[in-house]
Amino acid sequence: MLDLAAYGEDFVADPYPYYAKLRAQGPLHRVRTPHGQEAWLVVGHEAVRSALADPRLGKDWSSANLQRVVGDDAPLFTNMLDADPPHHTRLRKLVAKEFTSRRVEALRPRVQHITDELLDAMLAAPDRRADLIEALAFPLPMTVICELLGVPSMDRDAFRAWSQEIVSPTGQEAVQSAVLAMSEYLTALIERQRHEPVDGLLSALIQTSDEDGDRLSHAELIGTAFLLLVAGHETTVSLISNGVRALLEHPAQLAALRADGGLLDNAVEEMLRYDGPVETATWRFAAEPVEVGGTVIPTGSPVLVSLASASRDPERFDGADDFDITRDPRGHVAFGHGIHFCLGAPLARLEGRIALRSLLDRCPDLALDTTAATPTWRPGLLMRGMHHLPILWDA
Ligand code: HEM
Repeated sequence: MLDLAAYGEDFVADPYPYYAKLRAQGPLHRVRTPHGQEAWLVVGHEAVRSALADPRLGKDWSSANLQRVVGDDAPLFTNMLDADPPHHTRLRKLVAKEFTSRRVEALRPRVQHITDELLDAMLAAPDRRADLIEALAFPLPMTVICELLGVPSMDRDAFRAWSQEIVSPTGQEAVQSAVLAMSEYLTALIERQRHEPVDGLLSALIQTSDEDGDRLSHAELIGTAFLLLVAGHETTVSLISNGVRALLEHPAQLAALRADGGLLDNAVEEMLRYDGPVETATWRFAAEPVEVGGTVIPTGSPVLVSLASASRDPERFDGADDFDITRDPRGHVAFGHGIHFCLGAPLARLEGRIALRSLLDRCPDLALDTTAATPTWRPGLLMRGMHHLPILWDA
């Protein structure tokens, strides 16, 4: 049994050398997570992709040997990411049409406008310094997803605190109270919109039935609102901040991108591959014995699938630890794989590309602010992201 907590802060700050060692030993490892849960960890590109596509590794908590932080009936978790087919298929279908590339492309002018306003405010700082996360990486995706859902005036500070605790828990009690507070908040929000519908996806979901006459139950509504609001911002924050950090730490790559704007889309994909926002996919459970690399995962066992270990696998990507915006990064698994492949990928890409392009255009001397405290990393295995990213733009 490998105790991941024993790796300490080094593992949180830079997990990649640890994953490299594990990959060299084989695709499957018995681990204890930093939160004390015993699980199987899958590493390496090939094993990760086949685990994510394996229907036997599903989402059935009822037979799982793992305690949830709160009860199984918590409505927050009644969402597609926590469901197997056919429940998953139904929940995904109800919102999928809102997130297609075409629908998302229509948001481009609005995303650009929000980005421009945020950068106007950031660039007004007299000392020419800012925390990129506070100034752009957090408010951009949060504003976009709130507007899409039709909750523009949501209490973002409170929501952000609960959301961070749920995806990067600091302790059992803290996460339980965040789950409760978030559930109460969303229940009240949905009740308000039930009586007074507004423009936006949430009211539409409350009101409409799909072609089959399907409707979301109360718990499904809360779960779907929770998933879209949380998945819709937490990850994109780290795409922008991890990506900008990688770029600023590799001046030749930054210069190449400045010299050739045509590299932008590929640069964003390489950022997702090199230091993606989701380190480990959400829990899976073996519905029956599943063999991986010669070892059998017993029925009911919790399984963690390391996306970070797959996207840095040298068997799949030459020089996998090099940040190279001209490589072909296709095949990275930053958005997952299989039926739970990220529904928001087109939106995340649009936001990431607009944020990066606008930031570089408006800040010719952009650099990391090395006089500020070194960035620290959020705890937990799920998310890979910093708390702050100090930058400056005119040294
Ligand atoms: C760079 C940003 C993003 C990254 C890296 C990312 C990553 C992921 C990953 C890895 C999964 C699968 C998790 C698993 O299998 O356990 C996922 C699922 C999901 N993501 Fe994203 N995501 C991002 C942005 C977004 C955005 C903007 C939305 C907006 C709505 C979103 C909505 C979802 C949803 C709804 C699912 C569940 C899909 C399903 O279960 O069928 N994501 N995402």
